[in-house]
Amino acid sequence: MSTKDKNNKARDESVNQLSPTPSFLSNYKWWLVSFIVILLISFIIQRQTVDKKNSIKKERLFTPDELQSYTKDELYLAILGHVFNVTSAPQFYSSTGSYKFFTGRDAARGFHTGGTSAEDLTDDLTGLTDEDIAGIYGWLTFYQKQYPQIGKLIGRYFDSNGTPTEHFSNVLTSVNIMKKKKEEQARFEQQWPPCNSEWSHDAGKRVWCTEKSGGIERPWTGVPRRYFDSSTKTERCVCVKNADQQDGRFRQYEDCSPTSIECKILD
Ligand code: HEM
Repeated sequence: MSTKDKNNKARDESVNQLSPTPSFLSNYKWWLVSFIVILLISFIIQRQTVDKKNSIKKERLFTPDELQSYTKDELYLAILGHVFNVTSAPQFYSSTGSYKFFTGRDAARGFHTGGTSAEDLTDDLTGLTDEDIAGIYGWLTFYQKQYPQIGKLIGRYFDSNGTPTEHFSNVLTSVNIMKKKKEEQARFEQQWPPCNSEWSHDAGKRVWCTEKSGGIERPWTGVPRRYFDSSTKTERCVCVKNADQQDGRFRQYEDCSPTSIECKILD
């Protein structure tokens, strides 16, 4: 090969190295296609999430009159402004069912009182305690587990946009107060468990402590003491771990040894 030919060959090779080869091109195309596919998938997922959110927001809103018309073939009821389809349980909610008075309305108060008069079958909870209201909220969670929730009732608990009203946030406040009270009570009972107690005509009442009394399992027994609960304004018997504990809240039972695990209560 002449020197000229050698130079030409060398130049051709270097040109070939600079320009893209067919395989590089196809790799590049795959990257582009993959990128577009990923973009498309994430766009579709995003749209579906937005649609889902919108459909949650688009929950059906009922007026009291509309709800009232669902007491025959389709059976709907509301509790605390949440509307449920209870058609699957005609034995309770049809015109011959045992709880027919709850159908077609929000009779939240009746879930506490158990009555069927107009005063009971209302969503007005005026005068009820936090505990009563938390009990009614318990029924709401029962329906949420048991039946399809299909909308909200415009009125006391939701406005015409389906936004919760102050009445509904008051209900949630009562529920939270009761939740905290229960947690506090559970903590108290771990430290000072309830006594066992029994009453018989001949022997009267007796209280006693065991390692399981009050359903609180523990590696100690304790001694019975009188405890006045200022929140419920009632007295009850609690098991105190150390018989010699000087705690003004707990008082000894009369005529009962301070170290005895059992006391007879004399009226
Ligand atoms: C405040 C009082 C009460 C209220 C608000 C109430 C409410 C209800 C409701 C709404 C249901 C239907 C549950 C469902 O949809 O599955 C139900 C079922 C039932 N209730 Fe009551 N109830 C009350 C008191 C009582 C009492 C005192 C008894 C018994 C003497 C009783 C016995 C029953 C029975 C046996 C069922 C059927 C349970 C089942 O088949 O799963 N209820 N109650």
